[in-house]
Amino acid sequence: TLQPVIMAGGSGTRLWPLSRAGYPKQFLVLDDSNRSLFQQAALRLKGLAAADLAVRAPVIVGNEEHRFLVLDQLREAACEPSAVLLEPTGRNTAPAITLAALQAEADGGDPILVVTAADHIVADTAAFTAALQQAARVAAGGAVVVLGITPDRPETGYGYIRSTPDSGAARVAQFVEKPDQATAERYLAEGDYTWNSGMFVLRASTWLAALQTFRPDILGATRVAFAASQTDAKFVRPGKDAFAAVPAESIDYAVMERCPGSTFDIRMIPLAAGWSDLGAWDAVWQSAHKDDAGNAAHGDVISLDSRNTLVHATSRLVSVVGLDDVIVVETPDAVMVADRARSQEVKKIVNTLNAQG
Ligand code: GDD
Ligand code: MG
Repeated sequence: TLQPVIMAGGSGTRLWPLSRAGYPKQFLVLDDSNRSLFQQAALRLKGLAAADLAVRAPVIVGNEEHRFLVLDQLREAACEPSAVLLEPTGRNTAPAITLAALQAEADGGDPILVVTAADHIVADTAAFTAALQQAARVAAGGAVVVLGITPDRPETGYGYIRSTPDSGAARVAQFVEKPDQATAERYLAEGDYTWNSGMFVLRASTWLAALQTFRPDILGATRVAFAASQTDAKFVRPGKDAFAAVPAESIDYAVMERCPGSTFDIRMIPLAAGWSDLGAWDAVWQSAHKDDAGNAAHGDVISLDSRNTLVHATSRLVSVVGLDDVIVVETPDAVMVADRARSQEVKKIVNTLNAQG
C-alpha cells in the first residue's frame, strides 16, 4: 500500500514579499496553471491511484495556522485527504514526516510513504508517476529511496546526491544538503551528482528505524507529542507543548546526510519530468515564460531595454528601464528589489524584519 504524504508547513521566506507567514508560497499560484503549488502537488499524486498499486488518500502535514487554506484548496481541487496533521508550530521536515509515519503506524500496516513537498512544479505527470512506481518497488524491500534530478546549474538551494550505478537502482554514496557556491560548482563539473528533489519513498517502519538510529531525540519527542494528539474529524493535532519541544531539523540533515555508509540501503531513482522547486525568485524566473530578452512580467508591468529580469506587480503599475538580472516584486505594503543571482538571500530580509519585531 502506498501512503502519499504532502509536507505543506513551510514558510517560503525566500519568496518574500509575496510569500507571507499567513499565506506562504505553497498556497500561491506562481505559474500559468491557475493552481497553487500545493494544489498541483495533490493533483499530481492522483496519477498514482490510476496505476496498479493500492494507494491511500494523501496525508497532509501542515501548520495549524493554515488549516483553512489547506481545506479550501483541497476542496477546490477535488482532493479528499485521509488526514490533515496540524503542527502547532513548524519543527521542519523530520518531525513532519515522523508524524505521518506514526499516523500510518496507528492506522495499521506498514505502508510505503511517498513523501513529497508542496512547493514544486513538475511538467510531465506521466514521467513523475512512473518514477514513483519504480521508487515504490525499490522501497518495498526496505530501502530509503530519493528521487534525483539532473542538475543544470550550480544551485545552492538544493541537496546534492552522489550515486553509483547498481543493479535495480543507483546506490547513494554521499548526500550533501545545500552546499556553498564553490562546492556546488565542483559537483556540477564532476558530473555524478543529482539534486535531491525533496521527494522520498520509504516504508513507515524504515523511516522510524532510520530516525531511531540517527536522531532518537527527534523520534522520542515526536512520539510524545503524537501520543497527546487530539482528533477532530480529519484534523489530528499533536500535543502543543510536547510538539514545541521537538528539535527542529530537516530530513536532509537529520537522516539523509547520515544514511550513506550506514546499514541503511539508500537508493536514487532519477526523475526527468521538468521538475523545479520554486524556492527562490530566481527559480520562478527560470521556469517563467520570458520574452526574447529573457524578461518575465507578471501583472501590470512596463519593461524597457532590460534583460533577464522578473517583474512581479500585484497592486499597481511597475515600470523599469535598463535593468539586467534584477528581480522586482511589488505588493501593497512592501516592494523588494534584488540582484537575481542573490535571490537566495531574500530570506535575510525576513530575518531582519523578524528581529525588528
Ligand atoms: N509540515 C511541515 N512542517 N512542512 C514543512 C516544514 C514544517 O515545519 N518545513 C518545510 N516544510 C515543507 C515545505 O512547505 C516544502 O513543501 C517542503 O517541506 C520542503 O521544505 P523547504 O523549506 O521548501 O525545503 P528546501 O526547498 O529549502 O529544501 C528541500 O527541498 C529541496 C528540493 O525542493 C531539501 O530537501 C533539499 O535537499 C532539496 O533539494
Ligand atoms: Mg523547497
